Amino acid sequence: MKKIKAIIFDAYGTLFDVNSAAEKCKDKIGTKWEGFANYWRTTQLEYTWLRSLMNRHKDFWQITEDSLDKSMKAFEIEVSMKDELLNLYKVLSPFKEVPEVLKTLKEKNYNLGILSNGTPALLNELIESNNLKNIFDDVFSIEEVGIYKPNSKVYDIPIKKYNIQKSEVAFLSANTWDVSGGGNYGYNSIWVNRNNNIFDNLDYKPKNEIKNLKQLLDIV
Ligand code: LAC
Repeated sequence: MKKIKAIIFDAYGTLFDVNSAAEKCKDKIGTKWEGFANYWRTTQLEYTWLRSLMNRHKDFWQITEDSLDKSMKAFEIEVSMKDELLNLYKVLSPFKEVPEVLKTLKEKNYNLGILSNGTPALLNELIESNNLKNIFDDVFSIEEVGIYKPNSKVYDIPIKKYNIQKSEVAFLSANTWDVSGGGNYGYNSIWVNRNNNIFDNLDYKPKNEIKNLKQLLDIV
């Protein structure tokens, strides 16, 4: 890929496995853990979009808790598990290839950043708990603009900071709607399609699709 000046990653679902909190409790939750984890994630994202449309911002941690409350009711999960699930969400595991790939990219002197819905405190905790300190040049949070992805104000944050062209950003996300958001904005969006999913019909098709971040090393 030519003329890439910054590689920017989405965090939740792309670097860090959002299902890993519920998975770590699967002995207590039982076989419904995965349905519950997916419902929690979908509700959390819906709340980000709905709050942005309603102009009623709450930060990502509050939204994560609000969506957890609804999901626990929907899946009849004991209230006593709430704190455990929330604490695990603060230290989500990365997908297995992530630490190695990031270190390789760093050695190649790429400018690496995160652009995420997460609050700065949440993102820093994820980075620290997974030993990824000193990898990222910048960690950009939507809290800077007070509205969630895919609002273009969010994708504007790194462009303003680096003063580069939109097409000079390689933006990696596993969330199809985020790939579309960044792509429609003007980024070179790359879809990390870990689970053989179907892409959206939202006016953007990524030129590059990879199965995991390791394959990024073949295209940058
Ligand atoms: C994020 C959400 C999209 O990290 O997963 O921004």
